[in-house]
Amino acid sequence: STPVLIDCDPGVDDAIALLYALASPELDVRGVTTVAGNTSLTHATRNAARVLDLAAARADLPFVAGLAGPVARPERIPDEPIHGAGGLGGLDLPDSGRAAAEGAPEWLAAQALAAPGALTLVALGPLSNVAAMLAHRPEAGAALREIVVMGGAAHCQGNITPAAEFNFFADPEAARTVLESGLPVRIVGLDVTRAALVPLEEADRLAALPGAAAAAAGTLLRGFALRYGERFGVAAAPVHDALAVTAVADPGLLDYESGSATVECDGAVTRGALVADLRRPERTRAVRVALGVDAARFTRLLADRLAGYGAA
Ligand code: BDR
Ligand code: CA
Repeated sequence: STPVLIDCDPGVDDAIALLYALASPELDVRGVTTVAGNTSLTHATRNAARVLDLAAARADLPFVAGLAGPVARPERIPDEPIHGAGGLGGLDLPDSGRAAAEGAPEWLAAQALAAPGALTLVALGPLSNVAAMLAHRPEAGAALREIVVMGGAAHCQGNITPAAEFNFFADPEAARTVLESGLPVRIVGLDVTRAALVPLEEADRLAALPGAAAAAAGTLLRGFALRYGERFGVAAAPVHDALAVTAVADPGLLDYESGSATVECDGAVTRGALVADLRRPERTRAVRVALGVDAARFTRLLADRLAGYGAA
């Protein structure tokens, strides 16, 4: 199975992504780090701990908190309202005794350097921790097998602004650092996550599966679908982060084009926009941008893995 490190900001879809990853035999989750994004670092870390408990993750799974804001801007990111109160749509999960260590960028670098070429870093929030890791130990990036990023909108409109997707908008300088690093980066953005919405009925079906994890996932997806419907007119859940994780577990799930990419950091109306140059893949192939998805296969995999938690 593929060894992965997951950096996240739960966040409804981050929570589903963690549940998915921890139930997938194709993935070997070696640690979870948190970053400010959908909600504050404190809330994201608290939510992640509760979700790890829900997934019955082993007590000694490395769990490390990271940056409380963007790498180059003093302001804290405002909460993403689509995730509801507290970042998990008001879902009331029991408190966790899991304490997070501190220093995610340094910890990520140490993991990469200790296992050269082995680890895939899956980044599901603003790229603050990943950029800080590259600044701290540039050689750590080269020791990773791949960086899989949920973020950006290459050929479609953004979600937080017309030009930008939330994760890239929240820390554009960090996203630019990662995309321009020359490291192998795979971008799973709105081009594919919007094409793989989980319908409301499917959320209800998941909620009816046995077990606390499936019930919680169903509740999260249902609320997410309804809030998405209010904002974008379709009552279905964009489970962005879970799609990025699933793409690592199932390499054939998405279709990609290769090239290079950067992020606009200065534009008054385009800040955070992904600019992917896919015109001359023979020049550089460092970045792969996902543009096609088998949506039915994604929903099926998600349901299978959540059902795997059983009635425990
Ligand atoms: C991304 O931003 C957050 O709202 C989600 O958790 C996801 O990582 C989608 O734009
Ligand atoms: Ca996220």
